Amino acid sequence: MSEGYLRLESLTKRFGEVVAVDALTLEVPEGEMLAVVGPSGCGKTTLLRLLAGLEVPDAGAITLGGEPLFSKEQRVLVPPHRRRVGMVFQNYALWPHKNVFENVAYPLHVQGLSKGEVQKEVAGVLSQVRLEGLEERHPDQLSGGQQQRVALARALVMRPRVLLLDEPLSNLDAHLREEMRFEIKRIQRETGVTIVHVTHDQAEAMAIADRIAVMRRGRLVQTGPPRELYEHPRTEFVARFIGVTNLLPCRVVESDGRQAVLLPDGTAVEIGGLDGPSEGTALLSVRPEDIVLSRDGVGTEGEIAEVVYLGNVVYYTLSGGGVDLRVQAVPGETFEAGERVRFRIRCAAAINGR
Ligand SMILES: Nc1ncnc2c1ncn2[C@@H]1O[C@H](COP(=O)(O)OP(=O)(O)OP(=O)(O)O)[C@@H](O)[C@H]1O
Ligand SMILES: [Mg+2]
Repeated sequence: MSEGYLRLESLTKRFGEVVAVDALTLEVPEGEMLAVVGPSGCGKTTLLRLLAGLEVPDAGAITLGGEPLFSKEQRVLVPPHRRRVGMVFQNYALWPHKNVFENVAYPLHVQGLSKGEVQKEVAGVLSQVRLEGLEERHPDQLSGGQQQRVALARALVMRPRVLLLDEPLSNLDAHLREEMRFEIKRIQRETGVTIVHVTHDQAEAMAIADRIAVMRRGRLVQTGPPRELYEHPRTEFVARFIGVTNLLPCRVVESDGRQAVLLPDGTAVEIGGLDGPSEGTALLSVRPEDIVLSRDGVGTEGEIAEVVYLGNVVYYTLSGGGVDLRVQAVPGETFEAGERVRFRIRCAAAINGR
């Protein structure tokens, strides 16, 4: 595994006044699945189109496996069909008049392979995506998930050096989407292909990515393994975007050798572990599952304002210390709306920027 298999250096793309991708620098190791997440319009699709060669950058460089695909300085621009970069779009873009076999075989015919070679390659890739036996069907005779697999097969058949996925699962219903997440992961494991996967679904990114890159206004704000982003978000934006959180402006103090935080109205809440300053004011991100409730244990007093019971988890809104907190608990000891409870914070992370 080479560190910088796919390297982007200060990559920039403008559309008139809009800087869709803004001096973006990123390295993707070979075989990695990188998820790119961010709000609508932050530049995700543009980034993929730059990698595929469908848009020409205004500045910067792209290198793949040591080969420059684009360099403003060196005046290099490799055309899309020479990049060996596969792309799957949200709408699949299958040819309606071609059957499954023909849809998948198309890129190979373009490459000038013999009939026998095409047969063999297509059969191999259809088995990878588990579509054997459906070669003769047309796209309108397939389910959404099956069409998705055809699109994947068509991208994989040319043995891409990088596979770019642009929200490929967003047209599928929730159940199928979950199934396809694991399919993509399996296909990646079996083929070892490097994947850049754009999604606005942070849960999808958490579930399948090796690393997540959070994008905002054309820039990367934080890149790291899902767990790192979840537990140590550097900015308010990342804390809010990855998962659900409580953002608490508070003061960190020590009393009796223990750490506590003072909530806006001065109420002290015991805190177990803090990734941040040991004293002083801070903005803390407290995940709902890190607030521990009890009926009569130790802790600060609060009141249950709302209860949402979902079977495997229970969500509460807790009023205490002058703020409303979102709490996630496992069913077992459950609390009623209006009940007085005790709470403490298991752990929190300090946020440094917006
Ligand atoms: N061909 C274009 N001409 C002009 N502006 C464009 C063009 N393509 C994209 N943009 C603008 O560039 C910005 C980034 O767009 P992009 O499609 O990359 O966002 P995105 O992150 O993929 O959003 P979404 O999640 O909605 O798909 C937006 O402000 C968009 O309006
Ligand atoms: Mg997009």
